[in-house]
Amino acid sequence: MKLWQGRFEGQISADADVFNESLTFDKQLYHADITASVAHATMLGKCNLIPAQEADEICANLRNILSEIESGSLTVQGAEDIHSFVEAELVKRIGDTGKKLHTARSRNDQVATDMRLYVRESIDRATQLLKSLIETLCLRAKESCRYIMPGFTHLRKAQPINCAQYFNAYSEMFLRDLDRFARLRTRMNVMPLGSAALAGTSHPIDREITRELLGFEEISQNSLDAVSDRDFIAEYLFNASLVMAHLSRLCEDTILYTADEFGYWEIPDEYSTGSSIMPQKKNPDLPELVRGKTGRVYGHLAGILATLKGLPLAYNKDLQEDKEPFFDTERTLFSCVGIYTALLKNIKLNVNAMYQAAGEGYSTATDVADYLARRGVPFRDAHAITGKLVRYCIGKKKPLSSLTLREFRLHSDVFAKDILEAVTVRASAEGRNSVGGSSTAAAKNGLKSIQKRLKKY
Ligand code: ARG
Repeated sequence: MKLWQGRFEGQISADADVFNESLTFDKQLYHADITASVAHATMLGKCNLIPAQEADEICANLRNILSEIESGSLTVQGAEDIHSFVEAELVKRIGDTGKKLHTARSRNDQVATDMRLYVRESIDRATQLLKSLIETLCLRAKESCRYIMPGFTHLRKAQPINCAQYFNAYSEMFLRDLDRFARLRTRMNVMPLGSAALAGTSHPIDREITRELLGFEEISQNSLDAVSDRDFIAEYLFNASLVMAHLSRLCEDTILYTADEFGYWEIPDEYSTGSSIMPQKKNPDLPELVRGKTGRVYGHLAGILATLKGLPLAYNKDLQEDKEPFFDTERTLFSCVGIYTALLKNIKLNVNAMYQAAGEGYSTATDVADYLARRGVPFRDAHAITGKLVRYCIGKKKPLSSLTLREFRLHSDVFAKDILEAVTVRASAEGRNSVGGSSTAAAKNGLKSIQKRLKKY
């Protein structure tokens, strides 16, 4: 029997029923739905809108339903949605008293409240997972403060960088993601319950009681907005999309750096896969999958924005379409952050290969130009002289670091003996001591700053 059957002579047809139902996916809200119902029934009792002992009976039975669902002895099935299921189950157990639960409430403010409770917990879980990802990045940074690797622009070797500085760069991105989730949590922690269908209720309810019980910071101030606001879901999907963007970049680096052509990192066997035909292959399926799943999270964000854009005030059934993209996004987000954290803990750094590669591609040419500029040559001229020097090296097929002082001085008599030290990889990286730069000291400070900011969450 439908909650709304009274108005109808006929029964809904089977195909319409299947099309309309949401229990298949919103059963995931059972915990939030029962929690909100217990708070609502408690408030009804305290405000004498239903007798206190009936409120107690409702709450006790709701709690039983919850633990039975949790233990698996009660299967969630056979209703239009989770709200109908819980109410029907309650009425089955305590009859007419159960029918009083829906006083001063609509499924519209109910589902909006359930979703906020659910999303709030999801934010907390995302926060924990991001924290352990950043902690892992910090561990990797800590152990690699002395290592040097090539830094790239346009995927061409650009300048030597500190390996810790590399990991710190990703920590900075994920710290911004953490902050976005924290701010979203504050913004979305507002309770819609009490808005009823759209216009509020004539029953003398006390929304402060339910707010307090459900741990919301505030109550919504406009019932029309409250029942149809899904901004927090769009924001969550956006935050998740940016996490995925950052993770996907890290995965792209992982795929490149573990390729034979680079050989900087190695993925251990436990996190690699093979080929069904090519016996020699060791493939980076996990980072590829994370990179691939980024697309579907972006898709969910685009989807929810499109769903929301043409809705007339207030509630419309279109809003039921917020759930599947949300659930899929959080599942994808959690599994991707989780698996990459595990992978990162186990990645092996080929320190020598990175160091070797850092010196290739004339990566210390900027240091040569800076050397000249420090000695009074206008930077633009220093750049041109160094460019010619690089061309000379290409012609002779030798790296900058193997040039003799005589060869340097063929290009400018400003060069003195100390240029031979200035073009080394270590001097290049250590020389960039500006805040956030590639020197060991700067990378260590960067790490300290990250660890300090991480403590806030
Ligand atoms: N399953 C519905 C949803 O997700 C619950 C709210 C139904 N409200 C209604 N007026 N039909 O939005």
